[in-house]
Amino acid sequence: MIIDVSQADVVSVYQALVGIVTPRPIAWVTTVDELGHVNLAPFSFFNTFGANPPVVVFSPTNRRDGSKKDTYLNLQAVPEFVINAAVEDLAEPMNATSAELPRSQNEAEFAGLELVPSTMVRPPRVAASPVHLECRMLQYISIGEGAIGANLVIGQVVLIHIDDAVLDTNGRVDPRKLRTVARLGGDFFCRSTDLFEMKRP
Ligand SMILES: Cc1cc2nc3c(=O)[nH]c(=O)nc-3n(C[C@H](O)[C@H](O)[C@H](O)COP(=O)(O)O)c2cc1C
Repeated sequence: MIIDVSQADVVSVYQALVGIVTPRPIAWVTTVDELGHVNLAPFSFFNTFGANPPVVVFSPTNRRDGSKKDTYLNLQAVPEFVINAAVEDLAEPMNATSAELPRSQNEAEFAGLELVPSTMVRPPRVAASPVHLECRMLQYISIGEGAIGANLVIGQVVLIHIDDAVLDTNGRVDPRKLRTVARLGGDFFCRSTDLFEMKRP
């Protein structure tokens, strides 16, 4: 099959991309609006792109009607966010927080998740998640006005919380203990338990 992007509909292009670029890590993002209302939602258009300073990027895309998602709107008001690790034990509540609730409604409460305050940023952290990245937004770049247009949120990580229970004996995060889940195409997810090691040349 060949997809000529200039002729194809947006949803087909989206479905091809999210089926191909896999597995995608999941940023489970807490933000607040100007009144402090908390929002929590997962985003798999996500990765880290450098460590000096530490940079992460995720993309709350435009909705199908072209409108901006609550996470993006909150970041315009309060340019800080927390990335909570999406781990296997929290996969169901993580998925539940993708519900499209009204802007002032808290998805963490909706999914029965306890929140705890952050140290350096205003959005709180998901207590049950073993890792939190406290971030400040550096920049955002919107590409495309319509449905599923990208809104790249570029953030600097300012504080990293790691539960000692997911560390190995050298003080590094042990993937066998962290057990993140990742997103594939359609409704598929994968675990990070089928590991193999390779030494770098
Ligand atoms: C695992 C997972 C990954 C998702 N990744 C994205 C993403 O990268 N970008 C996006 O805009 N929506 C993504 N979504 C959908 C959003 O979570 C959903 O639209 C959510 O309601 C947005 O919340 P907000 O409007 O409160 O910001 C994802 C959903 C799930 C379950």
